[in-house]
Amino acid sequence: MDQTAFWHPFANMAEVSANRLTITRGAGNYVYDDSGREYLDATASLWYANVGHGRPEIADAIASQAYKLACYSTFSDVTNEPAEELAHRIAARAPMSGAKIFFGSGGGDAIDTAAKLARRYFFEVGEQKRQIIVSRRDSYHGTHGFGTSMAGIAPNRVGYGDLIGDVALIDRDDPEDLARLAQSVGGDAIAAVFVEPVIGAGGVHLPVEGYLKRMREITTQIGALLVVDSVICGFGRLGEWFGPERFGVIPDMITFAKGITSGYIPLGGVVISASISEPFFSGTGAPFRHGPTYAGHPIACAAGLANLDILEDEGLISKGRDLEATLADALNTTLDSPIVTEVRAGLGLLGAVEIDQDYRSANPQALVQIQMAMRERGVLIRPLVSSLAVSPPLTINDAEIERIGSSFIEAIKSVSALS
Ligand SMILES: Cc1ncc(COP(=O)(O)O)c(C=O)c1O
Repeated sequence: MDQTAFWHPFANMAEVSANRLTITRGAGNYVYDDSGREYLDATASLWYANVGHGRPEIADAIASQAYKLACYSTFSDVTNEPAEELAHRIAARAPMSGAKIFFGSGGGDAIDTAAKLARRYFFEVGEQKRQIIVSRRDSYHGTHGFGTSMAGIAPNRVGYGDLIGDVALIDRDDPEDLARLAQSVGGDAIAAVFVEPVIGAGGVHLPVEGYLKRMREITTQIGALLVVDSVICGFGRLGEWFGPERFGVIPDMITFAKGITSGYIPLGGVVISASISEPFFSGTGAPFRHGPTYAGHPIACAAGLANLDILEDEGLISKGRDLEATLADALNTTLDSPIVTEVRAGLGLLGAVEIDQDYRSANPQALVQIQMAMRERGVLIRPLVSSLAVSPPLTINDAEIERIGSSFIEAIKSVSALS
């Protein structure tokens, strides 16, 4: 058996070790394997290839920054030009005015930063009692310390011993569950509430009407911070820069990653409102003793700048909204299948096809089988919880979206015919 030394994330290596897909090249909305087979990337890899693959502008920006200054620390008083410019451009597009940007290397970093900063902010302003970090069932906030402790996908917390304390889970869809939690623990004990505008990895769950607005109202009432986790939903996925703009909501912090560089190089960060940064920036200030070695990495920030240029020059940010109905229509065609019980789509360029529970119980491999049947048809999708998910690049066209729908129908037919 071919035993790889490469341990894949979120994989049972006993199962995948001998049978893996090696992607060697990407161009536009397509990637290619080591035998030259072409695949439509219907998930933009892990929700991040927003501008598509193989963009020379980003590759050139990375190379020229590497030749000029690959990296230098930004701890203490040292800075660099790409980090300054990217922070400025992100802050200028954020829904909160006077925002500050704290950089890291990805989404999990950003979550840890936001959770620590929430607690540290209240420490600075004399509200030390505010410690509780709240997240929703089915939410995903990465695999770092806080992200694991806050995981709304239960298996992601299992087997890691004692996790970070003072975290609480609330119902996925009912904002009043936050009000009930505040009543039972005391509103003045809650530091921050983390919310994905559209839940991604938990199975693509769209918010119920008025959800984010009501969460803003309740957090404001109890004096807790609202942190919108836009790691998936940012940079055009919902047709806006960050996502909460769609709901007319101004958060206290926004976490971002993925689409900031379209994945060409790892980068993430937190957008922080002026009132939260204030104790750290004004008067005698206070050091925030937190931050990874590569915060504000010049190459990553140069990639981010080139990616923002593409998003803006090609008008891609609005595509997440422009194409959402087309994607929903394409996925809805699968509802004719008796094993499809629901399609979740219509808000942003992402969606999921839910497979019948009884069918999955009788056929535990059903999701992977459908994924593989799609792969045979040259389309890459992802199994997520009890569904199959898509989130294509913002550069996808109508014909390619229709192909996702028609391949789904064929793949589901071919798999369900076997059982
Ligand atoms: C909503 C959300 N938050 C945080 C993360 C973690 O990001 P990363 O994998 O870059 O650490 C993810 C990753 O998919 C995510 O979907």
